[in-house]
Amino acid sequence: MAFLTRRSKRREPQYSDDLRLANYPPPYPDGWYRLLSSRSLRRGQVRYLECLGRALVVWRSEDADDVFVMSAFCPHLGGNLADGRVCKDRIECPFHAWQFTGDGRAASAPYSDTVPTGVATDSFPVQEVHGQIFMYHRGGGARQQSGEEVPYPVPRIPEVDDGTFVFRGHYDAGRARMHIIEPLENAGDSAHFGYLHNRLTVPWTKIPIPGAALEYTTRLDFDAARESYSMPLLVETVFNLFGRRMEPIRTKTRVTFTGVGSIMNLRIELPKVGVVEIVQTYLPIAPLDQQVAFHWFAERSVPRLLVWYAVGGWISQWRHDVRIWEGKGFAAPPTLCRDDGPMMRLRRWYRQFFPELAGSGRSSAARSGC
Ligand SMILES: [Fe+2]
Repeated sequence: MAFLTRRSKRREPQYSDDLRLANYPPPYPDGWYRLLSSRSLRRGQVRYLECLGRALVVWRSEDADDVFVMSAFCPHLGGNLADGRVCKDRIECPFHAWQFTGDGRAASAPYSDTVPTGVATDSFPVQEVHGQIFMYHRGGGARQQSGEEVPYPVPRIPEVDDGTFVFRGHYDAGRARMHIIEPLENAGDSAHFGYLHNRLTVPWTKIPIPGAALEYTTRLDFDAARESYSMPLLVETVFNLFGRRMEPIRTKTRVTFTGVGSIMNLRIELPKVGVVEIVQTYLPIAPLDQQVAFHWFAERSVPRLLVWYAVGGWISQWRHDVRIWEGKGFAAPPTLCRDDGPMMRLRRWYRQFFPELAGSGRSSAARSGC
């Protein structure tokens, strides 16, 4: 699929990040973020990542399967731990060979027995779920420790855990020049579905199929989200062929945004065939730069061709959104008409993931349009 992994960059120079960012909420909200696939980090391996406004080292212990995520810069004199090595359940700095445990604490220095107690670098809660490594990040520049309490876990798919669903594929979609909040905002914008997503396309592409159209009914389930950190969007799609509604080909999709949508679970019910579930993830590399990945699972009985069709259909429509997201700014407050979706209600809900907005009063709330 190499031909699908790069979108044209011809639009990039036309837009100023500074101008586009002027009204957006902060770029790195609270939440779980997918960093890597589990298989890309074997025992004893180390990776360096820059994301979420941080320099991170991700490493797996030699004597167990534990994964740790820490600030990459050694608190002693700044060596980059990602250039170091793993020694059993510790990581060793390449600069002075200080060793640290996975909770970020200094454990030893080879030339001294007086390593300061209490020296620790930031470390982050980690979960491995369905073959992916996630870390929990708090916005607002808060210091973090791997053992801290997190408000909710990475979502699991029960049918993957019990073996009913099997892994069917993944797609690294590369980078998108957009803010992390866009997919969730998109869910509250019910009016755009009929305009931007109304054409059926060849799966995985933006090439329209002549005479084939799509009609949508969408609803955000605020009741389900009230006591939760996830927001479900219910989407019903009916196919339309040369002006005739094809009622039997009605698909139901439940899109669950965890947090601000850094993890999205798309559960697609294919009539009389079965269920496909896509996990789509966004990792902010910079305020307007997201690393996007897809992984999907399906009931064993669903033919591979239909899985390919369902996933490719979603990714086609996602590409239409990306074309808008990569050039847009953030309207705060937006100018809405009566038949727009529940955008303001959605913005009030997702404020909880932005500590900068929650703690700084009316001016930044007004700035975010919340
Ligand atoms: Fe959309």
